[in-house]
Amino acid sequence: MAALNHLIIPAKDKHASAKFLATILGVEAGPEWGPFMPVRTANGVTLDFVDSKDVRTQHYAFLVDDREFDAGLTHLKKDGIRIFAGPHKEGPGEINRYHGGRGVYFEDPNGHLLELITRPYGESPP
Ligand SMILES: [Fe+2]
Repeated sequence: MAALNHLIIPAKDKHASAKFLATILGVEAGPEWGPFMPVRTANGVTLDFVDSKDVRTQHYAFLVDDREFDAGLTHLKKDGIRIFAGPHKEGPGEINRYHGGRGVYFEDPNGHLLELITRPYGESPP
C-alpha cells in the first residue's frame, strides 16, 4: 500500500515557514536539502518548503496528541497568532471539540490554513 512521502509547499520565505511550523509541532526544521527546507512529521511525511513567487494557499492538518496540542496552542498564543475554532475563521480565539477531540485553525506566514487536531475526522460524529 502506497504511503505519502513528501509534499512541496510554496512559501514566501522557506526558512521562516519551516521554522514556524516546526515550532508549532515541536520538531526541528531541516536540514536544508537542495532548494527545500523540510519539516518531517511523525509518520515520515516530509513537508518541503520552497521559496516561490506563486504562493496559492492550501490547507494542511496535523494529528497531534494532547500534550502536543497544548504545546502548539501555547506557542500560537505566545507569538500572537490568531486562532479559530472553524476553517472559515469562525470562533476567533477559540478551539473546537469536533470528533471527540480538540482542534484549532490558524494561518502560517504564507496564509496557508493549518490545523491541529487530536482526533482524526470520522472517528466519531462531528
Ligand atoms: Fe482540515
